[in-house]
Amino acid sequence: MATLFRVARSPTTLLAMQTPVDPTTTSAWSDLSRTAESFYVDFRKWFEEDPERAKRFSREAADLYVDFSKNYLTDEVLEMLVRLAKEVQLEERRDAMFAGEIINTSEQRSVLHTALRRPKGDELMVDGVNVVDQVHETLERVYDFAEQVRSGSWVGVTGRQIKTIINIGIGGSDLGPVMVYEALKPYKLNDIECRFISNIDPADMYEKTHDVDPETTLFIVASKTFTTLETMTNARMAKNWLINSLRAVNAISDSEKQRAEAVAKHFVAVSTALDKVEEFGIKRENAFGFWDWVGGRYSVDSAVGLADVIALGKENWQEFLAGFHAMDEHFRTAPLEQNVPALMAMLNVWYNNFFDAQTHAVLPYSQYLHRFPAYLQQLTMESNGKRVRWDGSPVTTQTGEVFWGEPGTNGQHAFYQMIHQGTKVIPADFIAPINPAHALSESGTDVHGLFLSNFFAQTSALAFGKTADEVRAEGTAEEIVSARVFPGNKPTTSILVPEISPRVLGELIALYEHITFVEGVVWGINSFDQWGVELGKVLAKQIAPAIDGDREVLAQQDGSTQNLIEHYLDNRN
Ligand code: F6P
Repeated sequence: MATLFRVARSPTTLLAMQTPVDPTTTSAWSDLSRTAESFYVDFRKWFEEDPERAKRFSREAADLYVDFSKNYLTDEVLEMLVRLAKEVQLEERRDAMFAGEIINTSEQRSVLHTALRRPKGDELMVDGVNVVDQVHETLERVYDFAEQVRSGSWVGVTGRQIKTIINIGIGGSDLGPVMVYEALKPYKLNDIECRFISNIDPADMYEKTHDVDPETTLFIVASKTFTTLETMTNARMAKNWLINSLRAVNAISDSEKQRAEAVAKHFVAVSTALDKVEEFGIKRENAFGFWDWVGGRYSVDSAVGLADVIALGKENWQEFLAGFHAMDEHFRTAPLEQNVPALMAMLNVWYNNFFDAQTHAVLPYSQYLHRFPAYLQQLTMESNGKRVRWDGSPVTTQTGEVFWGEPGTNGQHAFYQMIHQGTKVIPADFIAPINPAHALSESGTDVHGLFLSNFFAQTSALAFGKTADEVRAEGTAEEIVSARVFPGNKPTTSILVPEISPRVLGELIALYEHITFVEGVVWGINSFDQWGVELGKVLAKQIAPAIDGDREVLAQQDGSTQNLIEHYLDNRN
């Protein structure tokens, strides 16, 4: 059913302008601190004493079944975490975000990625404009263009059908599209191949272009700002590559007109800066816009996903968006005790701030999700790796965790050793599809079942471990008993999903978007700016002339940088 939000922009009442609640001053924080001091985790005992524990601490959100029972969670802790969320005004800030208030204070922007998946017909008025209408207008153009490319009615400058899409973008303009492309390969509609160039390392450009036919290649330049050094350099290189390659086979002449025609037929753009897109030579009708109220790392479900829409088609993309929306609605309406993103986030705070957990592992038992942890790194760490709060004052607690991970079972043979027997607390999310995209068997064994037995085994081993007596009972020599003990009591959250479908992937992405938001609210952080990436960008531009031998610029650098550049200059071929 269509819902209606109207934003009354009265600056004096904006929650966004208020000083964040210092979480350490809340009653819940004091109770959690006191509880943590003498907290004794004993999963074996907890499960023995409460046979219903698994059921009592499991929740559902859209298609996700989430088992929290192997976490440092008791009824008392749950009550305190929910109370903390209330005391820091999570619900009010969540509502402010959904309503389009300017909660990205340092950039003076609304934060409305949730509007990207609102159903057609909804109304969300921001500054007198219904942004849901704008979203659907752009979506229709994206669907239409994608269909033209897939059907072959969009052709290159020599009249040939497009066979390869190359997306040029970085950060949010790359990590999301590539992750989705990899995750949803079973849903691809045809053989058009999508490639992704992000790095300014020329190796990336070479590897993605050297074996494709320019006549059948379409570039998508994806950049919110259309100023990012890496993307713009790569886009210019791609333009030169296209024109030179087409000329080399006499597909076009060197006339200005033919060059412009080639660019027009082989380049489209996704950006908020449509004037800059035109300056680059891409026609306005071949540019797909989005809005400053969508952060780069929250933009995969905007036109930034154009390559994916070409691969997957309108119906799959609509399912993908519906998945996001289902999770948004769960987050917006479920009571906090049942609210999966809120609970996952509050548990992260519990581990981060009270058990000194420095990192958080995300371990998908799905090869299709192999880029999901990398995607989450930008989402979570660019959002919550901050040291000041949204009013500019210093944070009062530790903030964002290091997110990392690899798909199971590969991780089991690489770093799980440390999660099982190391000295650090490493909370981990295990994610698995119940049904595989391809049901294969080996010698009569269902391989997906075998795969998932690893998922169940690992979370069980992490929780319940293996005692010295159990090791001895296997006849192990006494001198290696301690090395073979598994302490257990390692916290994990298990997420079971029906399959990795467009809908479920949308739900998973929205889940982590909201987890990130909730953690940011607890710490008082603006999770939607990214000033920490600026200094390196500015310095790279300043240093560039020194690489070309400008001694004056070289002399302006610090001692170490000068030394390194000199070593580089002396040793390059
Ligand atoms: O590195 C910072 C950043 O601004 C990211 O937040 C963003 O996703 C990425 O650069 C790319 O930006 P753009 O889409 O404007 O090229």
